[in-house]
Amino acid sequence: MDKLLIQGGVPLKGEVAMSGAKNAALPILCAALLTAEPLDLMNVPHLNDISTMLRLLGEMGVTVRMDEADGLSLDASGLNNPVASYEMVKTMRASILVLGPLLARCGEARVSLPGGCAIGARPVDQHIKGLQAMGAEVTVEQGYVHAKARRLKGARICTDMVTVTGTENLMMAACLADGETIIENAAREPEVVDLANCLIAMGAQISGAGTDVIRIRGVDRLHGAAHAVMPDRIETGTYLCAAAVTGGDVRLLKTSAAYLDTVVDKLMDAGCDITVERDAIRLVAPPRLKAVSLRTAPYPAFPTDMQAQFMALNCIAEGVATIRETIFENRFMHVNELMRLGANIQIEGNNAVVRGVDHLEGATVMATDLRASASLVIGGLVARGETLIDRIYHLDRGYERIEEKLARLGASVRRVR
Ligand code: UD1
Repeated sequence: MDKLLIQGGVPLKGEVAMSGAKNAALPILCAALLTAEPLDLMNVPHLNDISTMLRLLGEMGVTVRMDEADGLSLDASGLNNPVASYEMVKTMRASILVLGPLLARCGEARVSLPGGCAIGARPVDQHIKGLQAMGAEVTVEQGYVHAKARRLKGARICTDMVTVTGTENLMMAACLADGETIIENAAREPEVVDLANCLIAMGAQISGAGTDVIRIRGVDRLHGAAHAVMPDRIETGTYLCAAAVTGGDVRLLKTSAAYLDTVVDKLMDAGCDITVERDAIRLVAPPRLKAVSLRTAPYPAFPTDMQAQFMALNCIAEGVATIRETIFENRFMHVNELMRLGANIQIEGNNAVVRGVDHLEGATVMATDLRASASLVIGGLVARGETLIDRIYHLDRGYERIEEKLARLGASVRRVR
């Protein structure tokens, strides 16, 4: 299993380009299931989660053509097997995103239940409830969701909580339904908007994406389209944190601060100097960061996917920060590992109290989930001496060529096998 070896203490400096957003690309790949015509995508990140999704779509009869850069063409004209097996779904929860499009296009779908994952139980009851409201017959047997509907019908759906993939699944299903669907309490995440823009390019009639009420007027068929995936706001935020903790000065290219307001605000509160350009962000770190408290919540509030990285930042900041996680019940697994680097953190329920220390010391630590891994990289970059991060397959799920990008900014990072 690959590990990452980091020699800490080097301020990050220079420029590096950000990749396309994983969490936008995954649902957009599934949107290809909705049409028999080719969907051409650009700015698709090279990530293990993307390869998994492409393998899953391939098993269903979708053909994939890749160009040498970051373009992909998906052709679901031969879609013949509306099934997502446990073997595929267990490695990536986002596989549940095939459920809505398969049901809408094939009238039937069999998708393995994703089950629990490290950061929380993460049920899919809202996805199922929404499809039932649209007239689907849904049974759950032997760990599989089996959904059937000759044609879905438009419905008014109000989800019990804000769910990102739930909103995306229902929005995709509604595109081919008979009549109008209204999704209330919809997720407002920019990735939902990117998916909606791709669907609109494919001929879908969607309004309100980016607000908490999305209206979709169903059409008989969707057609092919070309779409460029939005930049990854979480990758961008992660590199900004890495630059901040190391006392760096970086310019991140091919990205946008438009969806990073809360993250940029917190970094400025921590004392960073940030300049926003059209397609780039520059961060200059202060001599010592100040502690910043935060509370995660659905967009536009502070993203849960940036919580671990800010925890790492607060470990070496001046003062005390309180971090409150409100989305997932078990998303503090990085805390014990950061403490192995010398951090001072106390957990009380879903609050973590971080008391900044002067410095961290390198150690061997273990990645437990995707964003927890990112916080350990940040910890390793600022720690004195060597940090060895085990189980970095989690990182490879969501950060494209992370050691190369960090090396471009001057970090001493090496992958060891
Ligand atoms: C997506 C993101 C993930 C991010 C999360 C929250 C993708 C591929 N993943 O995950 O990176 O951390 O949003 O911003 O986009 N819930 C239910 N029942 C459901 C659905 C959700 O109880 O049917 C609960 C979840 O357990 C969680 C909360 O709702 O506590 C929010 O989850 P949700 O927004 O659905 O997360 P994902 O879409 O899985």
